[in-house]
Amino acid sequence: MVKVNSCVFISGAGTNLSALIKNSRNYNFPINIRLVVSNKKNAAGLKIAKKFSIPLKIIDTNSSLFEVNILNEIRKRKINLICLAGYMRILSKNFIKNFKGKILNIHPSLLPKYKGLNTHERVIKNNEKYSGCTVHYVNYKLDSGKIILQKKIIIKKNDTPKTLARRVLIEEHKLYPKAISKIFNL
Ligand code: GRF
Repeated sequence: MVKVNSCVFISGAGTNLSALIKNSRNYNFPINIRLVVSNKKNAAGLKIAKKFSIPLKIIDTNSSLFEVNILNEIRKRKINLICLAGYMRILSKNFIKNFKGKILNIHPSLLPKYKGLNTHERVIKNNEKYSGCTVHYVNYKLDSGKIILQKKIIIKKNDTPKTLARRVLIEEHKLYPKAISKIFNL
């Protein structure tokens, strides 16, 4: 199988990155991860990239050229898919335009409900019965692009934002690879 060169953007722990890297080692998983981009120089996820010897790039989002720099890097490495995995910055319209239909994101809620930050807190506060996670394409509006896959879980009576986040995250690690296989018709 000819794999699609991909890049993962992170800001934090990188547990989704880890799940994607592990899946990518499987010969019939459609992507290879050629680059990890982080906007945080201390992101724990960078250790994961190092452990698997994946090139990494730390970006300085204060620089006006940061997106131009990433685009150059991505083009240089012939990357055709960007997976946002806990990347806590909004990409510019121009960046998205350059990569339209080739940027994915994972969000810890059942979109279109609970876009944005602090999803688990808001879900619990509203006494929702269900929550979950969504993998979707990135478009110009936050957490609003076409949905690829969702996984729903039942909220337990004594769930806190923390316990819910933990359970949703376990599902994220399975859903993201599944969604990637789906977009390549596997
Ligand atoms: C995940 O819950 C993801 O959905 C959200 O941020 C968290 C990142 O976790 N956007 P990790 O860095 O992949 O461990």
